[in-house]
Amino acid sequence: MAAATLTVYPEAASVHDGRLSIGGCDVLGLAREYGTPAYVVAEDDLRSRAREFVRAMGAHHGGRARVMFAAKAFPCTAVLRIFAEEGLGVDVASAGELFMALRAGFDPGRIVVHGNAKSLAELRAAVDQRLVVAIDNLDEVDRLERLAGAGPQPVLLRVVPEVHTDTHAAVATGHADQKFGLTLAEAAAAIDRLNAAGWADVRGIHAHIGSQLFDLGPYREAVAAIAELGPFPVYDLGGGLAAAYTPEHRPPSVDGWVAGVTGAAHELLDAREAELWIEPGRALVANAGVTLYTVESVKHRDSTWVAVDGGMSDNLRPMLYGAPYSADIADRLGGEGTRCHLAGKHCESGDVIAWDVRLRDPRPGDVVVTPVTGAYGHALANNYNGVPRPPVILCAGGEARVAVRRETLEDLVARDV
Ligand code: LLP
Repeated sequence: MAAATLTVYPEAASVHDGRLSIGGCDVLGLAREYGTPAYVVAEDDLRSRAREFVRAMGAHHGGRARVMFAAKAFPCTAVLRIFAEEGLGVDVASAGELFMALRAGFDPGRIVVHGNAKSLAELRAAVDQRLVVAIDNLDEVDRLERLAGAGPQPVLLRVVPEVHTDTHAAVATGHADQKFGLTLAEAAAAIDRLNAAGWADVRGIHAHIGSQLFDLGPYREAVAAIAELGPFPVYDLGGGLAAAYTPEHRPPSVDGWVAGVTGAAHELLDAREAELWIEPGRALVANAGVTLYTVESVKHRDSTWVAVDGGMSDNLRPMLYGAPYSADIADRLGGEGTRCHLAGKHCESGDVIAWDVRLRDPRPGDVVVTPVTGAYGHALANNYNGVPRPPVILCAGGEARVAVRRETLEDLVARDV
């Protein structure tokens, strides 16, 4: 793989004499001040990506459009607050994400509650505030009926449109035999039941066909499949737009993706007058964030192994999905470099953050940066090997602020009874 270029870094990144800054903050200075590993996020990138989605939805669909941030991609109050300030809605998939979204200031009228196994408590919280619930299964209809009183309880129906997507199996959700959503036949029956019951306000249909998708074709097929259920006031077409993890990745632009999904909805759902909602997660946050590490050791074997002070506790994606990452030495960007494997500190051989990256003369003490860790990095962080989770540092205009502090060793035992 080629050395990382700034193409996958935040827009607010720059390099002077080979030395990287994010949001006007010198990365070596950040590493010194806040320690490593650390998630560093360019606040301006979060805002500009949010505006890009809002602008594209407005341009291609007009005022009846909603951009909902999929909170799971970066469940951090400060990040959620930024998107709330930018006028986005939010998709939450648990009581915890709902708690954070409300704390971040989202208007309850702009929250959609997801989940294939919502607990009674989660459903109750949604019903108490009359949040839109995306119904996943018929058992949930029974439970909502008991909770909803006279209603009206706003609901969407999450359907499985039976489409194939070209992505990792763990994040494909459009095909028939899987755990999410209602089949088209189940959805049709549920709609009849809900319309007859009186307590439910059936707003429309939801479909999320998968994540890290480069191809717009399956969205079109999905829209065609749900057309037979309609018409409805709302169609929520989910998220899924891919991010470029390496310079070789070429996902559709935000505008191109929005044009594709809204165009399909206009054509196949006759949805020009309907509300169209989308739920991007990754595309809003992935390229806005990087992770800083410190090199602890360099081994020269058949390959060169560069070991850093983090790994699968702060970025599980290479291990879970075989996701590719690039890497650079923070003050020696560019140039050819030697081929290395960037290994983590955890006690298993699979703990490799990036295979076959080019690093220029890596040495212990160097700060290494992996770009594109804004999505599902902090979200999937864990304490494997008793490693405290990294802080989240927001940078803008040369100022850095800690949004989430580093976990301490005391935090690791704070729940002991
Ligand atoms: N809406 C629903 C209902 C979802 O389940 C998801 C993601 C999204 C929207 C946002 O999808 P995105 O735009 O981020 O692709 N941990 C995995 C990704 C799991 C995605 C789960 N659902 C990863 O790190 O790749």
